Amino acid sequence: MPFPAVFTAYRVFQRDHRVRGEAALGWNIMSTARKPLVAGNWKLNKLVGEAVATVEALKPLVADVSNVDIVVCPVYTALHAAAQAAAGSNVEVGAQNAYNKENGAFTGEISPQMIKDTGCTWVIIGHSERRQYFGEGDALLNEKLHFALGTGLKVMFCIGETLEEREGGKMDDVLTRQITEGLKGVSEAQFANVAIAYEPVWAIGTGVTASPEQAESAHLFVRDLVRKLFGDAVADGVRIQYGGSAKPGNAAELISQPNVDGFLVGGAALQADSFAGIITAVSAHG
Ligand code: PGA
Repeated sequence: MPFPAVFTAYRVFQRDHRVRGEAALGWNIMSTARKPLVAGNWKLNKLVGEAVATVEALKPLVADVSNVDIVVCPVYTALHAAAQAAAGSNVEVGAQNAYNKENGAFTGEISPQMIKDTGCTWVIIGHSERRQYFGEGDALLNEKLHFALGTGLKVMFCIGETLEEREGGKMDDVLTRQITEGLKGVSEAQFANVAIAYEPVWAIGTGVTASPEQAESAHLFVRDLVRKLFGDAVADGVRIQYGGSAKPGNAAELISQPNVDGFLVGGAALQADSFAGIITAVSAHG
């Protein structure tokens, strides 16, 4: 075979194995190309001083980690101080929510521009607690996502089924709806700033973690759906984090799944040492 033909054949082989290999053969080709993302969602916890102290404690524990993107998400009131404490380190700071307006008569809300102004680079959109307790639906979350991306913030977009939905055989439908509606209209270029967090609601804060097999099969379902809706480049590049009782003791097993590209961590991210334990387990996986 002349060289160009060999090269073309190789590229076809590469493409085919990248697209199907992960599931069919358990290969880990593309996940090595996706830099893992580990974020701590501190929820409604920590005063300003506590948030700063946690960032200060975390920094030396993860200073040598260059193969994982690391984010902490404090409450709004601590964002600026936490971002200042993290400045110059490999720890980024994100918010837990943002409104879909820049400013105006929206008492109590905070815009992505204001979040960016504090020094943050990320925002979580669509966490199940926002969906469940604050009635945020797919259409609003899609607006919030677009608005946040428009400011240049990177977004962790959360999806996940409840126990009732899983047991009722509705998991695929729920994930399909959340992705189809929630990520509607996101361009290939914008996807560079989007991560998807798969967080089964039954695993959040319950101590019950999805098994590696459950996580992998849901992540693969999500990636396949993203492939169908947005194409190969987006599907192969988008990071899918797992969330739901992730901790240092189960991180290594979960991250070894080919379609698990990091974590969104609640409880175990509140202490610098346990959060660092998850980050180092992910880093060691390479
Ligand atoms: P958890 O929370 O790790 O405490 O289960 C995860 C999340 O809600 O993001």
